Amino acid sequence: MATTDRREALRGARVVLGVSGGIAAYKAVEVCRRLMDAGAHVSPVLTQGATRFVGALTFSALASEPARTSLYDGPEPIPHTRLGQRADLIIVVPATARVLAAYAAGLSSDLLTATLIATRAPVVVCPAMHTEMWEHPSVVDNLATLRRRGVHVVEPEAGRLAGGDAGTGRLAAPDTIVDAAGAVLASRLSLAGVRAVVTAGGTREPIDPVRFIGNRSSGKQGHAVADELAARGAHVVLVTTTDRPAPPGAEVLRVETAAEMQAAVGAQRAGAHVVVMAAAVADFRPKAQAATKIKKGDGVPDVILEATPDILAGLGAAPVAGQLLVGFAAETAGGRDALLAAARRKLASKHVDLVVANDVGQPGVGFSHDTNEVLIVGADGSVTDVALTTKTAVAAAVVDAIAAHLSPPPPHTSKELT
Ligand code: CTP
Repeated sequence: MATTDRREALRGARVVLGVSGGIAAYKAVEVCRRLMDAGAHVSPVLTQGATRFVGALTFSALASEPARTSLYDGPEPIPHTRLGQRADLIIVVPATARVLAAYAAGLSSDLLTATLIATRAPVVVCPAMHTEMWEHPSVVDNLATLRRRGVHVVEPEAGRLAGGDAGTGRLAAPDTIVDAAGAVLASRLSLAGVRAVVTAGGTREPIDPVRFIGNRSSGKQGHAVADELAARGAHVVLVTTTDRPAPPGAEVLRVETAAEMQAAVGAQRAGAHVVVMAAAVADFRPKAQAATKIKKGDGVPDVILEATPDILAGLGAAPVAGQLLVGFAAETAGGRDALLAAARRKLASKHVDLVVANDVGQPGVGFSHDTNEVLIVGADGSVTDVALTTKTAVAAAVVDAIAAHLSPPPPHTSKELT
């Protein structure tokens, strides 16, 4: 991504600049100035520690709004929720070991940490501390936790530290920090103009009005993919069997059976740049559905099954030019090689572009869990391993792969941030 794109993405963006109490706080003044130069709307939030290193007035004079330093003393009764909800990005410069620990633990002990927990905006933390602290297992663990949750980390550099020491822990250069902030914002809307159809959840195939054949799918992974596509600016049509919340702005079609899902996807696919079949579609359904509840006294019924339509294979058999097809593969494979082979078989047999394969026999993987571990396999030979992580992080990797395979690539429209 070009530097100009990263800087352009900051124009008009509402950025909360958190400053915590380390000697590097003085460099946050320069970051503030550069964010302003790039056209961002900057709201500074200083911890009490930060105000010992640099005056709130300095930030007030440079930023778009007066600096805030307290949850309680300002004119607004609940400043953290207003700041958190309205932010396009929160960036913490410098992030001390204390702030990282509080954020990782969910402790909202001051205005900055409360704002971090009250936001859904992307967050960039820029740690700065002495080498011993940077390498302490608590800091390492807290950063790993934050990374796993999708927080972006601008690593410190090696160099001169406070007190005449030298080592890793010096705050990254202001330019690097501002570039990273711009890159996060630019990537957020990198799919503007893209239309996506996503299916999620397990279908239910009725036996009678009260009973159905279903499966263990929770819809979490499909919804996470829809959330991530929408967060990056795509227009999402979500065809789901669940009542989970949909991303803001998405069109939601609630369906129950494979046949209903097939009809919904068929009606929505024209004009879509990508169709993601994350749903666990039943392969079999009762041939006949009883019109009234089957009574116990009538004896044990014979439920005769028939095959459902394979929605994904149907899409692959009638390709739409320029439309990317993404399938999922739930396997009980026994090892990476077997999983990869199964994914490749599904790629070829269903004529799709990407298959996201998971081994649902592994602990913490697939159905109902909040975590997943997948291989993202492309018809072009590409393979991406995503180790056990949250379904949100898996969704981000899936959407990265989608973005890399879209043809033509989506137009870059970071201006829409304003
Ligand atoms: N799929 C579909 N229609 C079906 C069954 C599956 O569109 N009737 C889609 C799923 O949404 C998923 C992919 O096909 O994207 C693979 O589903 P999966 O259940 O893993 O595989 P199957 O094709 O059902 O094959 P098998 O059960 O033999 O593994």
